[in-house]
Amino acid sequence: MTEVIAVIGLAEHAVSAAMARVLPPELSERDPLVRPSEHADFQSNAALSLAKRAGLPPQALARQLLGELDGGAISATLSGPGFLNLTVADSRLWAQVEARLAGERLGVGLPLAGTRTVIDYSAPNIAKEMHVGHLRTTVIGDALVRVLTFLGGEVVRQNHLGDWGTQFGMLIQYIDEHPEARWRGGDPDAAAGAQVSVLDGLYRAARQKFDADPEFVERARRRVVALQGGDEATLAVWRELVAVSGRAFQQLYDRLGVLLTERDSVGESTYNPFLDELVGELVEAGIAVDSDGALCVFFDDVTGPDGERVPLIVRKKDGGYGYAATDLATLRHRIRTLRADRILYVVDARQSLHFRMVFATARRAGWLTDEVEAVHVPFGTVMGPGGTPFKTRSGGTVRLAELLDAAVEGAREALADKPHDLTGEAMEEVIRAAGIGAVKYADLSTSRAKNYVFDIARMVSLQGDTGVYLQYAHARVRSILRKAPAEALERPVDTTLPLHPAERALILLLDGFDATVREVAQELEPHRLCGYLFSLAKAFTDFYGACPVLKAETAAARANRLALCRLTARTLARGLDLLGIQAPDRM
Ligand code: ARG
Repeated sequence: MTEVIAVIGLAEHAVSAAMARVLPPELSERDPLVRPSEHADFQSNAALSLAKRAGLPPQALARQLLGELDGGAISATLSGPGFLNLTVADSRLWAQVEARLAGERLGVGLPLAGTRTVIDYSAPNIAKEMHVGHLRTTVIGDALVRVLTFLGGEVVRQNHLGDWGTQFGMLIQYIDEHPEARWRGGDPDAAAGAQVSVLDGLYRAARQKFDADPEFVERARRRVVALQGGDEATLAVWRELVAVSGRAFQQLYDRLGVLLTERDSVGESTYNPFLDELVGELVEAGIAVDSDGALCVFFDDVTGPDGERVPLIVRKKDGGYGYAATDLATLRHRIRTLRADRILYVVDARQSLHFRMVFATARRAGWLTDEVEAVHVPFGTVMGPGGTPFKTRSGGTVRLAELLDAAVEGAREALADKPHDLTGEAMEEVIRAAGIGAVKYADLSTSRAKNYVFDIARMVSLQGDTGVYLQYAHARVRSILRKAPAEALERPVDTTLPLHPAERALILLLDGFDATVREVAQELEPHRLCGYLFSLAKAFTDFYGACPVLKAETAAARANRLALCRLTARTLARGLDLLGIQAPDRM
């Protein structure tokens, strides 16, 4: 595997070397501040930022840097009040294309080799259907898994299923009292979705009874005790609930094309055996204290609207452990047993306070140290068409499966107007890829913190910043390549050809793929990759409009431009793959 250094890296290196010759060490080691520019390929404003400390007027410092700049393929000029404009030689840019095409990885390095990241994502709740609220965590989490893995990191996926808690006592008791409620049987795989639908209904019925009937509350409570005490009959029903839900979740994961499998499922119940000991340790250390019969952790900087401190409740008054205790045990397990360097929790922004308190508690207990980074990766809400929280007409939650059906139908309509050479199952596959890709792209391209409106017509539009647009852009480049004669594809890149400005712009973007992917891994913001791919598709359109490819003036120009097509197609496909989106060859 050969890593290709991007030309921006060469430019930075050249400016840094000039700085080392001109400035004292404490200044010369600073960032050379090289950025893409409208006036040249790049611009450095190191002179402007360091002039004062160097005791020189910015232009004078810039001139000195220019005099010492021995850029090789990078040439520089002075501009304005002290900018250095940097331009890369044409031959060097063609060489970049050739180098990136040479390997499977497009010249991207493995900066995360040797690191281990745990990613907690999806985490739906057993006996309930996956709904719109699970979309973002599942899609964003999966993109982060792919990006970190691509950069050489070891990634441990953890699906923290909600499979434990008093609600299961309630549900199992209700099922026991309603033997006529048929949710079992049938072909297990095909029926899993339907079974979970029935369970979801039973769950709601159980909740209603629970809220209305104190005697049922008492029976449900006894059932919780039976469940936690390991009563075999109760556990058997619980296991069945977990299995049926697990199958239904897996069907959705497969449909979405996310990497989660049953092996990644580590539900809340897993940590149950450790809670007594863990809470004991917190009490002994004086971290958890009694408050009105409950065991709580308090924080000086976490207060409610009335100024009262808001606690993290690790054990409830009734002696039961909840979400917080489980998350503490989970965090400790990920640090001690999974040996993570970085732990990401891809969970709704509304749980920020919970994670702040869990992390702070683990820090106080000494489990979470500076060697490990625990990060809540929050995201905004998916809104309904009116810009209000997404609900069904009757006010219920919107099932994820239904949303996906609707998106695929939307894609079918959007694609219907387009001429295409596909039929039958091949066309169906493309429609599915477009519909699912549209949903994922709409989600990933919104900056994480923002809410967005689930608008299918916009998502499946062939114009604008959509998944379908990018899939089409990719398929179009592939179709150009299919028409190219073999000898033109085999001809090596001729690095002596002068560059057209549209070729230059495209190459500079292609060369920036590496930096974009690293940025996503660093900032945990997949939308940057979406923005990059959208710019790339547009730059390709500009290039294709300005530079004939198959009808280029010379055989050498044709070969060079075909190499650009190949690199564009591969970069688009790889980028979409990192987002978990399919890139069909034909559409
Ligand atoms: N099951 C939870 C929910 O639906 C999400 C769990 C997130 N992960 C965690 N470690 N708390 O809200």
